[in-house]
Amino acid sequence: MTDMTPMKEILDPIEIASRDEISALQEKRMAWSLRHAYENSPFYRKRFDEQGAHPDDFKTLADLAKFPFTMKQDLRDTYPFGMFAVPREQLVRIHGSSGTTGKPTVVGYTQKDIDTWADCMARSIRASGGRRGDICHVAYGYGLFTGGLGAHYGAERLGCTVVPMSGGMTERQVTLMQDFRPQIIMVTPSYMLSILDEFRRQGLDPRQSSLKVGIFGAEPWTNAMREEIEQAFDMHAVDIYGLSEIMGPGVANECVETKDGLHVWEDHFYPEIIDPATGEVLPDGQMGELVFTTLTKEGLPMVRYRTRDLTRILPGTARSMRRIEKITGRSDDMIILRGVNVFPTQIEEQILKCEGLAPHFQIELSRKDRMDMMTVHVECTPNRCDADARAASAKELSHHIKSVVGVSTKIEVHDPQGVARSEGKAKRVVDNRPK
Ligand code: DLL
Repeated sequence: MTDMTPMKEILDPIEIASRDEISALQEKRMAWSLRHAYENSPFYRKRFDEQGAHPDDFKTLADLAKFPFTMKQDLRDTYPFGMFAVPREQLVRIHGSSGTTGKPTVVGYTQKDIDTWADCMARSIRASGGRRGDICHVAYGYGLFTGGLGAHYGAERLGCTVVPMSGGMTERQVTLMQDFRPQIIMVTPSYMLSILDEFRRQGLDPRQSSLKVGIFGAEPWTNAMREEIEQAFDMHAVDIYGLSEIMGPGVANECVETKDGLHVWEDHFYPEIIDPATGEVLPDGQMGELVFTTLTKEGLPMVRYRTRDLTRILPGTARSMRRIEKITGRSDDMIILRGVNVFPTQIEEQILKCEGLAPHFQIELSRKDRMDMMTVHVECTPNRCDADARAASAKELSHHIKSVVGVSTKIEVHDPQGVARSEGKAKRVVDNRPK
């Protein structure tokens, strides 16, 4: 793989500033953000008043703990436009994240917010190894989802030639990649696997493709999956994180030279880790729930937003800004099976250890005689599909899951293409247990 480390001269100076400079900027911006939320959003004014916290109480970053949390439910309760801190006419864009309840969570941006977002995304693509002049194939979905347009504006801001493919029509994606020869692809890791299958179906060698870097996010994926994709395409696979409530993609990103967790763009987003049960702030290094406060956002400031994502904060390496460890899962994706906590990423890791299995999978939960059961649906690789090979793969996977994760599972090995494919975020868990 080509070395794609960016030269220090092209970074934003704040990315490599001293910790003191970063903290001073955060403190100044945090004071502004809390006051902006309090003075311009009736929602926040009420919340702060109820908690007895006033923007004047904020003197140093440690004072943030006095302020109340914000949750996804708050956005639902104020649906659609009730949390904004500017008149609706000043919003130039709306996005939404599809919820399980049917109605999306609505977020809005002023022109300045869109500019900040483009800057953060451009910084993320540069950290991933992308450069001005590269061709960037965007296969995140365009629409209310923030993935497509977020990647698009960032790639334009960096000076790339953007191919706005969106998700779907996999055959066409591969054809146009062969014709346009992009260096960069931005897509969910699960959809990248479908693209990989399509390369092979068309008889193409993915290692001969033009791709040099893939910027993958919007769903949890493991280092084992990184290895799989990097080997298959002979390219760098870099992790990008974000969420619509805070902005969209580009809140944090890995650096291609280290791939050791995601640097949070701390000049715009202030991270905390809390104990999800008590809300207590935990020191850097400890695992817990990630919480963000926006430092510059105008349209929808977010104060101590509880992401439900589980990770820990680590010191900076390739940049001075702190990192979050690769996210293993969300507190609400966690399956509790007969008392054992299981994350879909743990199953992914075990599948990738088995040579006879392809990396597509889905977990089905069911109930029999009041016992919860977990079935893992996977596919055999095309060269290991006879009955004996399948039985051996199923046995191997079940053994790995039992010994590493600690639960007994039923394994169903399907034909190639037998497991539902994603064109965006993969749906890893199907819960068929009676409500
Ligand atoms: O998924 C934004 C995004 C688009 C990020 C494209 C990266 C690339 P939402 O639809 O609001 O926004 O979903 C946010 O997705 O709280 C995490 O649970 C999950 N997620 C996002 N990126 C990652 C990642 C977009 N790199 C939710 N690793 C977040 C693990 C991720 N989970």
